[in-house]
Amino acid sequence: MTPAPVLYRVRAYDTPDDPFAEDASGPGFRYDDDLGLAVSAEGVITTRGPFAAVAAAHPLAPVIDLRAGILLPGLVDAHAHFPQVRIIGALGMPLLEWLERCALPEEQHLAQPDYAAQIAAEFVAGLVSAGTTTSLVFGSHFAPAMDTLFAEASRFGLRLTSGLVVSDRMLPDPLLTTPERAHAEAVDLASRWHGRERARYAVTPRFSLSASDPMLASCAAVMADVDGALFTSHVNENLTEVATVRGLFPDRTGYVDTYDHHGLLGPLSLLAHNVHPLDSELGVLAARGAAVVHCPSSNSALGSGPFRMRRHVAAGVQVALGCDVGAGTGFSIFKEGLQAYFVQRLLGDDGYPLTAGHLLHLSTAAGAAALGLGDVVGDLSEGKEFDAVCLRPPAGTALDIGLRHAGSAEEALGKVFALAGDADVADVWVGGEQIASGGFLRPVSARGLSR
Ligand code: GUN
Ligand code: ZN
Repeated sequence: MTPAPVLYRVRAYDTPDDPFAEDASGPGFRYDDDLGLAVSAEGVITTRGPFAAVAAAHPLAPVIDLRAGILLPGLVDAHAHFPQVRIIGALGMPLLEWLERCALPEEQHLAQPDYAAQIAAEFVAGLVSAGTTTSLVFGSHFAPAMDTLFAEASRFGLRLTSGLVVSDRMLPDPLLTTPERAHAEAVDLASRWHGRERARYAVTPRFSLSASDPMLASCAAVMADVDGALFTSHVNENLTEVATVRGLFPDRTGYVDTYDHHGLLGPLSLLAHNVHPLDSELGVLAARGAAVVHCPSSNSALGSGPFRMRRHVAAGVQVALGCDVGAGTGFSIFKEGLQAYFVQRLLGDDGYPLTAGHLLHLSTAAGAAALGLGDVVGDLSEGKEFDAVCLRPPAGTALDIGLRHAGSAEEALGKVFALAGDADVADVWVGGEQIASGGFLRPVSARGLSR
């Protein structure tokens, strides 16, 4: 006998339709204030509808009533750096100085396995506490550290995509490798983790400033050897960086071309930042189906510049959101949504007029689609896996008050992005497994992975 599903009774938002689409109409999100979701033992949403109807169809199913909070699809963070959790908050430096003084010294410590294990635990806890259930994570330069990250993410059943970071120039010696070694270590890591439970491998040159043509060719060889691998790196983040890359690659038409030349850009490629793109580069990204990960807190903290969302949307480039810890100032994707909104406001007529629906879409379905997981997660439709976050703001906080007095669903969603943070993330599920409850983390492995 198949076990009965569990019924969740919820007030829920999601964005099954893309509010950035040219023919988009309405508020850009779907809201139901007494929704029933039947979730199978496999963690899949099998029925969605008005609670009374779903309950009538499943008379024996246990009911979990979450209407004291707000349910959203699990958040998707498409760019965060595993080794940088302890250096969040260093202010006042542009990218290259920040790398030299803050990020690269810290990243060398991950050569020590014990240190890497502590960082992996802190980093994964940071993601789960923020309500992030799916993430594309910029890894470490050290292969054993990557094993600890994949293992820690699997304790929580997280949908983690990550890979060894590779570079062969212009970084401190301990962070450098050779194209041959990079290829061998990547293929070895992928053989252990790619496709295991919810983990996937991402080929990850740090940026073409620190990766020569032979290194980028070795990345292309890994892509050919690992079926379904993703590709991620940085692009067009900072003007000094962009000028340096131009000098290093005189035969390329621009920064995007340094990757495209090696066939590294396709529908499973995600490039972080792209603050300073040429129009021709936006055309190439759109033609390849590659996505750009917008990291607004980081762009502001490092003074990299305002993200041209309107140009990306007009060119047909997919955009996802990333917290970019540790240049970014924390794990909260709600905060990234709010910062994205601020930046577009500050751009005036050049900015994209983001609504609360756009922010939810960027924080969930857009990231899932960019990561090739759009058929699996990203919204709360039938057939999707139950990845979800329940927000229950502590009584008396501004968010609690605001939600109780919101005049409409749209107003309430705006308040979520204005005010929600980790303290409001009460419960988190991945594939139907609850990995945080009342704000406390609950590793899946401690209970035995049921799937
Ligand atoms: N470009 C190369 N490495 C990094 C990094 O660690 N953070 C950011 N924001 N940009 C980078
Ligand atoms: Zn980054």
